[in-house]
Amino acid sequence: MRDGRELRKLVESKRFLFFGGKGGVGKTTMAAGTALWLADQGYNTLIIATDPTISLSATFEQPISETEVTPIKCSCKLSGLNINPKKAMGVFQSRMTGMLEGFSTLFGSELLSTPCTEEIAAFDQFVSYMQDTEHDKLVFDTAPTGHSLRELSMPFDWSGYVSNQIKHRRELSEALGFVYDEGMIEDLKLEKERYDNAVKGLADDTVSAFTMVTLPEKLPIEESARAVEDLATFGIKVPSMIVNEVIPRKVLEGNWFLERRRATQDRYLLEIEDRFKSLIIKEVPLLETDVYGVENLRKIGGHLYD
Ligand SMILES: Nc1ncnc2c1ncn2[C@@H]1O[C@H](COP(=O)(O)OP(=O)(O)OP(=O)(O)O)[C@@H](O)[C@H]1O
Ligand SMILES: [Mg+2]
Repeated sequence: MRDGRELRKLVESKRFLFFGGKGGVGKTTMAAGTALWLADQGYNTLIIATDPTISLSATFEQPISETEVTPIKCSCKLSGLNINPKKAMGVFQSRMTGMLEGFSTLFGSELLSTPCTEEIAAFDQFVSYMQDTEHDKLVFDTAPTGHSLRELSMPFDWSGYVSNQIKHRRELSEALGFVYDEGMIEDLKLEKERYDNAVKGLADDTVSAFTMVTLPEKLPIEESARAVEDLATFGIKVPSMIVNEVIPRKVLEGNWFLERRRATQDRYLLEIEDRFKSLIIKEVPLLETDVYGVENLRKIGGHLYD
């Protein structure tokens, strides 16, 4: 495996750090370990979970708000936010409602209750943090994988659709004697710009880096390979991969079961080296307990970057 200092250089040189990968492989743990390590280095760091569970609160053993950036107790500059798509939707809906007010007779309120509004709303919040200027580092737990990005790319089409609708209905509204407000189109244009900029930011490898988290096992490797391809279709490169839960050699000591497991892992580690040649690859050992709390997360940060 290549030198771990490469991963350290990568996280120190980018502002937006995304962690993606199959369910349960350790995304939250690696994102939290990274955020804590960065904060310990003196960076003012914000960790954002874009996943509806309370995993961030459990990991840091303290409640982390769904609406307010919450300081994390660690004697360092770290805070957290757990975006809840359902709550985010409230913010989104009220903004859109405000923007479209007066047009409700022209397009019904159904626009605001399409099945994808939750995704749009979560992405909307996510977008606003891509414009954050308060923090040095923003760490995102659960990076949009290719699949969710496709869902999330809907707002772009959607805003285009709305602009078109407004244009087409302009003549109609004038004919019907409605007051036509040019400002509304301007607002929508601004919205579209925000989204476009966020996607540009995601794809800009001078500020953003995606780390794929995986296990030395068949299914997580296949899913990682697919996610790397999917992200590439959005112009997003994946520069690094963490291979989590590698069984440390020193615990094998003639234990046939662990030796078999480790031999299996060795096979997959070779496969990973071979299939992801251009990526920075970093192994993290399987710890003797599950990982939560600042002390354990610092151990993970140490394995990753020291
Ligand atoms: N290196 C490790 N050693 C021991 N336990 C680990 C290690 N990495 C992660 N774990 C444990 O594995 C479990 C899953 O980790 P985590 O919640 O970070 O995965 P995830 O990818 O975020 O899952 P989800 O897809 O559900 O969000 C947790 O209980 C965590 O404490
Ligand atoms: Mg998680």
